[in-house]
Amino acid sequence: MSAVRPIDYMDITEKKRIVRNGYDKIASIYDRERYKYGNTTELRDFAGLLTESAEILDVGCGAGVPVSKFLAEKGFRVTGIDVAENMIALAGKNVPQARFVKMDMTQLGFAENSFDGLTAFYSIFHVPKEFHAKIFSGFHDVIRPGGIMLVSMGSNEWEGIEDYLGTKMFWSYYGPQRSLGMIKQCGFKIIFDRHILNSADERHYWILAKNTK
Ligand SMILES: C[S@@+](CC[C@H](N)C(=O)[O-])C[C@H]1O[C@@H](n2cnc3c(N)ncnc32)[C@H](O)[C@@H]1O
Repeated sequence: MSAVRPIDYMDITEKKRIVRNGYDKIASIYDRERYKYGNTTELRDFAGLLTESAEILDVGCGAGVPVSKFLAEKGFRVTGIDVAENMIALAGKNVPQARFVKMDMTQLGFAENSFDGLTAFYSIFHVPKEFHAKIFSGFHDVIRPGGIMLVSMGSNEWEGIEDYLGTKMFWSYYGPQRSLGMIKQCGFKIIFDRHILNSADERHYWILAKNTK
């Protein structure tokens, strides 16, 4: 494994490269291990607020399982985006009934009001936190009025690089109050925000919100 420079000396491009190259490298392992995190309850909460054949954007879709797959099997029209090509390739195999596109969540290439719902499970916190307000604003633009968003964030403010499934990985997030404040500021009404312990014993901060534009 090549040496990684101290995080304080890295620019944004380098941090993003660690994430993209890392997930390209571990795509198959991640796909095999993903079942350990569960999240069926959160998916049911989200799906229960959508109308039949709603259009959903799954941001940082990974290998498409369980999020895109669960939603596509409910009959929703799902588009998944991810920066890692190998993740996109696996997602296409795992969920043939959905559409998957290589795209960075900081530069969404969709028209305003394109989706009725948006999910971002364990993905926003891989983007440097100074981009998070811009990301939520982009989500607000592409979700239709009254549309629903479900995102997970870190439980406590942190930024760092650690070994993850055999690669170096970068995480970056503010604490819950700041994350929640940014989401409200963009024009979302909060349905719930909670810390949830997943089945792999990891605590994350989840926000379910409605677009009030
Ligand atoms: C921990 S995985 C989560 C995958 C999936 N949401 C799940 O629940 O299993 C994080 C995913 O976010 C993707 N990702 C990271 N930064 C991204 C960005 N800027 N835009 C889009 N996807 C990104 C990664 O490539 C990776 O597939």
